Amino acid sequence: MPTQRQRKERVYRLFTRIASAMANPHRLELLDLLVQAPRTVEELARESGMSIANTSQHLQRLKQARLVMAKREGLYMRYRLADPAVARLWLELRAVGEQQLDEVEQALDAYRTRRHEFEKVSIDELRDRLQAGKAVFDNRCAICHRADGGGLPATPSRIDGYVFPPLWGPDSFNNGAGMNRVLTAARFIKAKMPLGEADLTDDQAFDVAAYINSQPRPQMADLEKDYPDRSTKPIDGTYGPFADPFPIEQHRFGPFPPIEQHYKALKKPS
Ligand code: HEC
Repeated sequence: MPTQRQRKERVYRLFTRIASAMANPHRLELLDLLVQAPRTVEELARESGMSIANTSQHLQRLKQARLVMAKREGLYMRYRLADPAVARLWLELRAVGEQQLDEVEQALDAYRTRRHEFEKVSIDELRDRLQAGKAVFDNRCAICHRADGGGLPATPSRIDGYVFPPLWGPDSFNNGAGMNRVLTAARFIKAKMPLGEADLTDDQAFDVAAYINSQPRPQMADLEKDYPDRSTKPIDGTYGPFADPFPIEQHRFGPFPPIEQHYKALKKPS
């Protein structure tokens, strides 16, 4: 019979299987890629800059520790995380790393060029922009869409639809709709609103779009499964995760040029 002590050691040894499977920078990168979306060996090799043979070996290690699973799809093996808990494990590890290790912060700072500066700019700008947007809304839009953004129902029963649609609140478009993206909304508003009198400047259209999109609206389920390849996500998408270091506020409200430059720089061959 194993002693109590031996049993205890066996349990801890089992846990080290997971820890040692993760204790490799290439495998952490593979996990990070798989947190974003399931991928084939070829895709993982390409994105991590490793050979296919190397990638397969690292994937085997992760699979033995039951961190990932593989599924054959025709000619390809597609890998995915074995469980959402694995994503949480990686995100926690990363959070602890960022919090506890100064070097990580420095490395990230070098990578996210001028990150703090952008954060500050966007929050100050944001306050001004939303205030300006509210003024545009109150003066030019509330007459039809109503001061509370709830729209004008055709009859007292909301199921009969609206004469002027709600722009936020329970009956409005949901947060996954194109209209919830500030650049899309600004373009639409500039072209069409106020209805019959579309005379806003670009800035006014942008500010009022940001104001509308800062309001509560129905949440679409499972948004994080949209855009399996995050780098193809529109830069004014309104829900994470993104394949870039910019804060969510900046994706929602701008400024957008730094985000555009970031993606352009990534696409240039180095
Ligand atoms: C004269 C009434 C009127 C005014 C004023 C008006 N709108 Fe509209 N708006 C409408 C109508 C009607 C629709 C629906 C028809 C359409 O989409 O073209 C609409 C649609 C919209 C939509 C799309 C909603 C959706 O669910 O897709 C947005 C966004 C919008 N308006 C924003 C604005 C903004 C911003 C202003 C002020 C700058 C404004 N509107 C002023 C009548 C108005």
